[in-house]
Amino acid sequence: MAFGNEYSSYDDEERVIGRQKQFDDRDEKNLRPITFAEYSGQKKVKENLSIFIDAARKRGEALDHVLLYGPPGLGKTTLAGIIASEMGVGMHITTGPSIEKAGDLAALLTNLNENEVLFIDEIHRLNKSVEEILYPAMEDYCLDLMIGKGPAARSVRLDLPKFTLVGATTRAGMLSAPLRDRFGMIHRLELYDTDDLAEILKRDAALLDIRIDDEGLRNIASRSRGTPRIAIRLLKRMRDYAIHLDKDVIDKKVSDFGLNALDIDSIGLDAVDRRIMMTIADVFKGGPVGLETLAACTGEDPVTIEDVYEPFLLQNGFLAKTPRGRVLTQRAFEHLGIPVPRSFTDKNNQGPENLSMDL
Ligand SMILES: Nc1ncnc2c1ncn2[C@@H]1O[C@H](COP(=O)(O)OP(=O)(O)O)[C@@H](O)[C@H]1O
Ligand SMILES: [Mg+2]
Repeated sequence: MAFGNEYSSYDDEERVIGRQKQFDDRDEKNLRPITFAEYSGQKKVKENLSIFIDAARKRGEALDHVLLYGPPGLGKTTLAGIIASEMGVGMHITTGPSIEKAGDLAALLTNLNENEVLFIDEIHRLNKSVEEILYPAMEDYCLDLMIGKGPAARSVRLDLPKFTLVGATTRAGMLSAPLRDRFGMIHRLELYDTDDLAEILKRDAALLDIRIDDEGLRNIASRSRGTPRIAIRLLKRMRDYAIHLDKDVIDKKVSDFGLNALDIDSIGLDAVDRRIMMTIADVFKGGPVGLETLAACTGEDPVTIEDVYEPFLLQNGFLAKTPRGRVLTQRAFEHLGIPVPRSFTDKNNQGPENLSMDL
């Protein structure tokens, strides 16, 4: 395979740099697309990236630094690997929290070869002193190191190979402005639509030797919160349900049975989504409610609510963010099958549908 070498070096790096987050799922790695052609959806991001990759390759230069952001499981790590393999270069993988000292980063940077990719996952968790080393490295491809201590200390400047930093984060808002500004490209990954997810599942089912028909594919795809990682996880669970039911194909019936057993409703909301919505409806009469309060009342972690649950609820119009906090929408009350409280309509006198969606 054309990208075999790059891919195996990308796998090795994972073992070499031991402290990075492990992938949730062992199989996931084999399912990870290595080329743009295998990567479904995210059309705009792919189009943009392929133009710049093509240009960089033709000039024989490193690609400009890329920041990828979006909720977990949308394909940021996968895309970083694709960037490296499409560039035809190796990739070194690490994570923000695992780079503790400036020296750790210096070691990573000096080990890079010309035009290679350094992937830093969870880049919003880099500490300040490390971040400052990164600025000149990104901008001028050099390292400013302090040698010695006290009055005898002096700084030396070390040249680095030209490289591409690919940063991934679930929260671009937590990145400092100077760091964000040093990325030539910032791409936000979107939740996937059902067609894209069905296409991803079809490919993965074939790779995993799972038999599933079109209805089964669409059923899982439409109930995976727009997220490939969740879709893949559900596909594997549905395989278990098929075995349990003595069926050799995952069809509409098997997938309905399995998804219902997992408490995932017709549009893909799970028990936690419903608990969050019910809490706002019940305890706060539809809102507004602040994130911390909501987290305390539902027993969920605020970061998880913000990164994992909220994007899907916002995108589907069940929840709106207002300057005063989160509020439920008319649609949420309808989906939960409960009447809109009188006080809620009065409080938000234009009606919940007219509330501003942005912060
Ligand atoms: N666009 C895509 N096309 C095909 N598979 C994808 C796509 N995006 C993600 N995946 C699959 O979903 C899994 C999770 O993706 P990953 O890159 O780890 O997400 P993130 O880093 O954003 O959390 C991967 O194993 C990959 O197989
Ligand atoms: Mg990742």
